[in-house]
Amino acid sequence: MLHSVLVALHVLAAIIWVGGMFFAYVMVRPAMAGLQPPEPVKMWGRIFDKFFNWVWLAIGILVLTGYGMLLGPFGGFANAPAYLHLMQLLGIVMIALFMHLYFAPWKRLKRALADVDYPTAAKQIPTIRKIVAINLTLGLITAVVGAGGRYFG
Ligand code: HEM
Repeated sequence: MLHSVLVALHVLAAIIWVGGMFFAYVMVRPAMAGLQPPEPVKMWGRIFDKFFNWVWLAIGILVLTGYGMLLGPFGGFANAPAYLHLMQLLGIVMIALFMHLYFAPWKRLKRALADVDYPTAAKQIPTIRKIVAINLTLGLITAVVGAGGRYFG
């Protein structure tokens, strides 16, 4: 019973985080292409302001439920199958990348928007885009590892 609650919360958090990145990268980014500056960066500011709160929540849930399952039903790190070690590694890399994104380019973008300094704000977008591209790729791989791992080999 506890395992099913943990896995359900885990997978919902993964869907919100990875799905949000997919939507931002694959739908919103090209849709912004026709807008005149500084509209795109102002829009990204509003979008990220909301999305990143959800990412923090998703990270908290992923870590708590992930380690809850690993230390509980899976009987600790020593007994965990290889795909779970891989998931943990990918998860830690994704979280570290997000934290860098949040505390470096996103903080700069937010400050610049508050100062009505649109060129500085817009300069942060390519960095954020690159990190999101990497994290989206890692997130999709992590989801495949998490859901399919038990059937591999
Ligand atoms: C940060 C450390 C993480 C740990 C310790 C962890 C641990 C786990 C564990 C123990 C399972 C259950 C596997 C099973 O029942 O066979 C699982 C499943 C899963 N995890 Fe993670 N995970 C972590 C991060 C992530 C991240 C970042 C994502 C995606 C963004 C993710 C996506 C998934 C998915 C999609 C499943 C499959 C759920 C299912 O279909 O049963 N996990 N994870």
